[in-house]
Amino acid sequence: MAEYVKIVEVGPRDGLQNEKQPIDVDTKLGLIERLVAAGVTHIEAASFVSPKWVPQMAGSSEVMARVPRSGGVHYSALTPNLQGLEAAIKAGCDEVAVFGAASESFSQRNINCSIRESVERFRSVIETAQASHLRVRGYVSCVLGCPYEGPIAPQKVADVALLLHEMGCAEISLGDTIGRGTPRSTRLMLEACLKVIPAERLAGHYHDTYGMAIANICASLEMGLRVFDSSIAGLGGCPYAAGASGNVATEDVVYLLHGEGFTTGIDLPRLIEAGQFICDALSRDTSSRTGRAMAPLPPGTNA
Ligand code: HMG
Ligand code: MG
Repeated sequence: MAEYVKIVEVGPRDGLQNEKQPIDVDTKLGLIERLVAAGVTHIEAASFVSPKWVPQMAGSSEVMARVPRSGGVHYSALTPNLQGLEAAIKAGCDEVAVFGAASESFSQRNINCSIRESVERFRSVIETAQASHLRVRGYVSCVLGCPYEGPIAPQKVADVALLLHEMGCAEISLGDTIGRGTPRSTRLMLEACLKVIPAERLAGHYHDTYGMAIANICASLEMGLRVFDSSIAGLGGCPYAAGASGNVATEDVVYLLHGEGFTTGIDLPRLIEAGQFICDALSRDTSSRTGRAMAPLPPGTNA
């Protein structure tokens, strides 16, 4: 039987958080409904951060109140502190995520504290979430480079990932925030992490700025990772990492995984429809190569 790879769809959060134009809650829900219809089961739908820092995520409670609840879909949200966690619990999230970094400068710019302070803050978030029976995910940003500090040592990534793992994060998502990684740097970073954390607890979260994300996923698959984060149509970027482009496109990851003989539970043509929906809503072209290749031809066009 084909081996399952879990895809965590981060488009509604990572994909949309950086959009300059206002996106109403109905549009966010239209996207989420189409993702669910395509068979996506893990969706990062919200972010309970300060609306002054990330205005686009201000409607997160309303989004969570209206997401489709049938079909066993797991909805997660970013929660940087106890205030965010309380909002996520109230909104009915199934999972929450704390987010730290392997770079001091990025930690300061993104969450306004040092790595050490962030870890202390996360400890109480994780304990309180667990007391409410919520699964907690831990992100480490800048695992393959930082926009302010440049290259980041693999050992630094492993140290922060281990702290999150030991504090009780069920899954550690390794973020190439600025998409600078290559298969070689990905392998070196993963080698350091895999010395201290089993592969089944790690996820790859690769942005595609340099077009390397699919190659980095291939390298990660070879090293045993079976969870990948991706964003529909390749939307996104981080507001505190200038120039970083979106996550690897979910359509491309699904095409890759199915081609490599894995199952994802996702229907690719319906996923492409979800990508077209959000691209139409944002008046932009998809960043997914697969989405472009498989898009239905406009009426009256010959193949
Ligand atoms: P701070 O200013 O140090 O916080 O920000 P504070 O505790 O001093 O509070 C200041 C104000 O913020 C107060 O309001 C609080 O109520 C409010 P005021 O009294 O001034 O009116 N506040 C909040 N409001 C709503 N929800 C909250 C919350 N917390 C405080 N949870 C803070 C610290 C962490 C809040 C801030 O820095 C922040 O919100 N940062 C979020 C940045 C962010 O979301 N970045 C993008 C996501 S990370 C990412 O994209 C990377 C990732 O994809 C992986 C990768 O690619 O690498 C995950
Ligand atoms: Mg990201």
